[in-house]
Amino acid sequence: MELGIGGKTVIVTGGSKGIGSGISKAFAAEGANVVVNYRSDEPQARAFAEELTQNHRCKAVALRADVSLEEEVASLFSQAIARFGAVDVLVNNAGMVDFNAVEVKDMSLEYYERMVRNNTSSMFLCCREMVRHVLSRGFSGAHIINVLSKASVSSTSPGQTHYVTSKAGNMGFTKSLAAEVTKYGIHVNGIMPGFVRNQTQAKKEREQPKEWAKELAVIERRSPIGRIAEPEDMGWMCVMLASKKTAFAIGACIDLTGGRLL
Ligand SMILES: NC(=O)c1ccc[n+]([C@@H]2O[C@H](COP(=O)([O-])OP(=O)(O)OC[C@H]3O[C@@H](n4cnc5c(N)ncnc54)[C@H](OP(=O)(O)O)[C@@H]3O)[C@@H](O)[C@H]2O)c1
Repeated sequence: MELGIGGKTVIVTGGSKGIGSGISKAFAAEGANVVVNYRSDEPQARAFAEELTQNHRCKAVALRADVSLEEEVASLFSQAIARFGAVDVLVNNAGMVDFNAVEVKDMSLEYYERMVRNNTSSMFLCCREMVRHVLSRGFSGAHIINVLSKASVSSTSPGQTHYVTSKAGNMGFTKSLAAEVTKYGIHVNGIMPGFVRNQTQAKKEREQPKEWAKELAVIERRSPIGRIAEPEDMGWMCVMLASKKTAFAIGACIDLTGGRLL
């Protein structure tokens, strides 16, 4: 099936590691020009982009930006446009989690706002830049895909109100923006993963295999599909949402939890 992704330019925020790496790989496999955004670890991001270019019929470049900062988002887009001429697809994947459990009674405003700025304001900044770019080209047919979470619609473990707020905000923003910009030919959708293998889990698997095996068994027992998601599961869903075949999806927030929300 021809999805119409080949030759399109996609920015994947936080695209060199974890879920983002799976998204970048899926677009690379479809022949897209892939802008792998990263915040830290330049050698890893450059090597990853190089690997994509060598292994697939694509061009990939690593571009640094902290997407929670206005000037850096503007610079990310202008560098991507200078390199590839335009941006057709934006995947807002960058996000942080907090491994500490901090109850509201103990949480400072600064701590709370840091999470919301990193996970939610970043999505606003990147989407605003993308919408302005598309309008400046006077062109229809762009796609924005936002990485949400099971936490967009439910609580997680205690002490995570700031994270849950940021992800619930991502979902409200996705639906509201979709309704606003469909008239410009910009398709905005989201994907809600449950548990996806990322850098943290991969490290735990390497360093504490027994503990990880126990944890994994519990998660898998709770999951109707019986496994956790791989970054590529997210990648292929992003590709589908960026394709011309799913053009009627507007503001859809796809449940990709393997049945955990049923
Ligand atoms: N893994 C899961 O089970 C799961 C479940 C539901 C939702 N999610 C969502 O999926 C997305 C990706 O998470 P992940 O699990 O793949 O985490 P990850 O392995 O920690 O990767 C996140 C990537 O995003 C980057 N990033 C974070 N904030 C950034 C910023 N302000 N600017 C630029 N890059 C930034 C990180 O860069 P640094 O290396 O510099 O920190 C890192 O490369 C997040 O939005 C997360 O909320 C994950």
